[in-house]
Amino acid sequence: MDNTNTNFSLPVDFKWGVSTSSYQIEGGNFNSDWYSWEKYKGYIEAGDACRSYEKYKEDIEILKRLKVNSYRFSIEWSRIEPEEGKWDLEVLNHYKDLIKSLKDNNIEPFVTLFHESLPIWVSKIGGFENKKIIKIFQRYTDFVVENLGSEVTFWITINEPFIYALMGYLSGEYPPGKRSIIKYLKVEHNLQIAHIRAYIGIKDIYKKFNWGRSRVSVAKNNVDYLPLDWISKFYIMLKRYFTNYSYLDKTRKYMDFIGLNYYFHEEDKFKLSIHNFLFKSIPNDKLEKQDVLGWDIYPQGIYNIMKQTYKRYNKDIFILENGISDTSDLNRIKYIEDHLVYIKKAIEEGIPVKGYFYWSLIDNYEWKYGFDAKFGFSYMDNNGNRIMKESGKKFADIVQSI
Ligand code: NOJ
Repeated sequence: MDNTNTNFSLPVDFKWGVSTSSYQIEGGNFNSDWYSWEKYKGYIEAGDACRSYEKYKEDIEILKRLKVNSYRFSIEWSRIEPEEGKWDLEVLNHYKDLIKSLKDNNIEPFVTLFHESLPIWVSKIGGFENKKIIKIFQRYTDFVVENLGSEVTFWITINEPFIYALMGYLSGEYPPGKRSIIKYLKVEHNLQIAHIRAYIGIKDIYKKFNWGRSRVSVAKNNVDYLPLDWISKFYIMLKRYFTNYSYLDKTRKYMDFIGLNYYFHEEDKFKLSIHNFLFKSIPNDKLEKQDVLGWDIYPQGIYNIMKQTYKRYNKDIFILENGISDTSDLNRIKYIEDHLVYIKKAIEEGIPVKGYFYWSLIDNYEWKYGFDAKFGFSYMDNNGNRIMKESGKKFADIVQSI
């Protein structure tokens, strides 16, 4: 295979990984707010998803074949605390075993504590709108970290806080389906405080047990924006601030690195409309599109967001998600190679990029799109077996050749 594009050397401790989340792969998460939300909205249901709760050892076999040294997955809060204050120790043991099996295979766990799915009992008391969430989230993170932390260094407290608040409280497409700027602002604020408290809690626990260094952050989805004319520069600056920086600016002191998810490049110009500001961009017809989702493919955007983020926060950067929905599997490797060219450029320019995680290990439940968006290096067949795709095999070559 021609790897000329990706022929460069990386820091020795570079993390090559893939990412997943519990609700999207585990199956059977009926205590989650998404479980009732799918039914209420008439979305395709996650159901058994990829059966990864039961088949995690087979997932690890795929990880081994991908030659990655890291795996980002999430703990399902609704599973481990299905009722307020009641901890399911069997579930705890499941995650202990997952982490142990990863480590036995020299795969570093990157553990996300909250990835979209909330226990129903938490959503019933108002979820992230209610400031009680701060204590409840801290109690949950303390429990998980005290029990799993001796084997974990990397924690992601919250996945895509901005998207969570946007989709749940402005567009209303995700639970709880509200549309209010006031509620959105409240939730964004509570997501910031929840992270800060969890961060402090994690540091205290590691100190108390003498566990050495923990590295804690969030996975922040940042968008690469391009103003289409000079008059719109200020408008785009505001949009960029709102989407990319407002959360991180408030929490920067409590981030050991910046975790970035990159998918979107958006071109836009000024329009006096809140809807346009929040949700619209002008698709560039010349750019290739991801299938099913229609997102513009723009590899240089990964470089732009890393450069901007490094300039603003001066911290190590991990790309915690980057991926393409590609049913044919014919475009995935080119997509990855094209993005890696810009990872290389960033590293050569001195930006401390410490990891690249592809979304995703396996085709999974893509929220309101059901199972149609195929991001995986592998898929599950009708018998529950994991089948590696060609792109997965080629990715393993890339990982080994760099
Ligand atoms: C962002 C989210 O973290 C994940 O849940 C989602 O499936 C991927 N990106 C792809 O859209």
